[in-house]
Amino acid sequence: MLTEWLTYLTTDCSTQARRLGYLRESIGIRSRYRRCKPAWQAHLENSRSALLDSLHACHSFRTALVFGSGLLLDIPLADLAKRFENVWLVDIVHLPEVRRAARRYANVRCISLDVTGFLDRLDAISVNNLDLPTPTIFLADQAVDWVASVNLLSQLPLLPQDWLRKSFPEINEAVLEEWGTRLMRQHLDYLAAFAAPACLIADMEQTTYGQDGDVVEQADFAAKLGLVQQTLAQWRWDIAPPGEIAPGIGRFHQVAVFTVN
Ligand SMILES: C[S@@+](CC[C@H](N)C(=O)[O-])C[C@H]1O[C@@H](n2cnc3c(N)ncnc32)[C@H](O)[C@@H]1O
Repeated sequence: MLTEWLTYLTTDCSTQARRLGYLRESIGIRSRYRRCKPAWQAHLENSRSALLDSLHACHSFRTALVFGSGLLLDIPLADLAKRFENVWLVDIVHLPEVRRAARRYANVRCISLDVTGFLDRLDAISVNNLDLPTPTIFLADQAVDWVASVNLLSQLPLLPQDWLRKSFPEINEAVLEEWGTRLMRQHLDYLAAFAAPACLIADMEQTTYGQDGDVVEQADFAAKLGLVQQTLAQWRWDIAPPGEIAPGIGRFHQVAVFTVN
């Protein structure tokens, strides 16, 4: 608890990211990882391998752009730093240990950015105007030779939706749901707009189950997004073994790898 509080105080991140809960979430992921290490191991190894496999599509190795780099748990940073001239780690929050890990490599840079553009629009957003600008950052950079979006897609709408619920209680859930789907689709379109090959690792489904393994709740992101193209690999991520979320309750994700472009 004390470590978490210290991290909260010492992390360099924007006021808005703190206000919306991104820093709290990031610290929460770190704590959950520490509790659930064995259950996460296969998922993290699969993610790192999938990213390295996807490098076969690259023709040159100038800049690697990684969206959702987070705690770097699923990122083969040493290999990327060796292969590319530059590695740019993009996330809303970079905890101090992540910045320290990045500093070990002269060619790795942490970039703090909300890939949806939501935080920059907080003051302009209203019930009648929930539109977000189409992301274009980095698209014009000809040196970007590889792009990765790593276990980020399904996370994109969550905290913005919480903020919208609190700020505009009059918005109904169906509108928020549709808005969240649009946000995720916008990210997919953004990846597709790069000239470089992009590797997408994302949750396809989230299943919450009870004591007898019976399904309590299911979210099907693939169906919502119409993600029908062939996946390169798929696996189950036991993100919350029974007891982690609530007594007797567990949760797993079905994760898939896609190539975009
Ligand atoms: C499930 S974690 C991904 C795991 C991460 N690759 C790792 O190894 O820790 C999702 C990450 O997405 C980041 N994130 C969520 N929304 C974001 C946004 N709008 N822009 C940039 N990063 C975002 C979170 O801060 C978090 O680090």
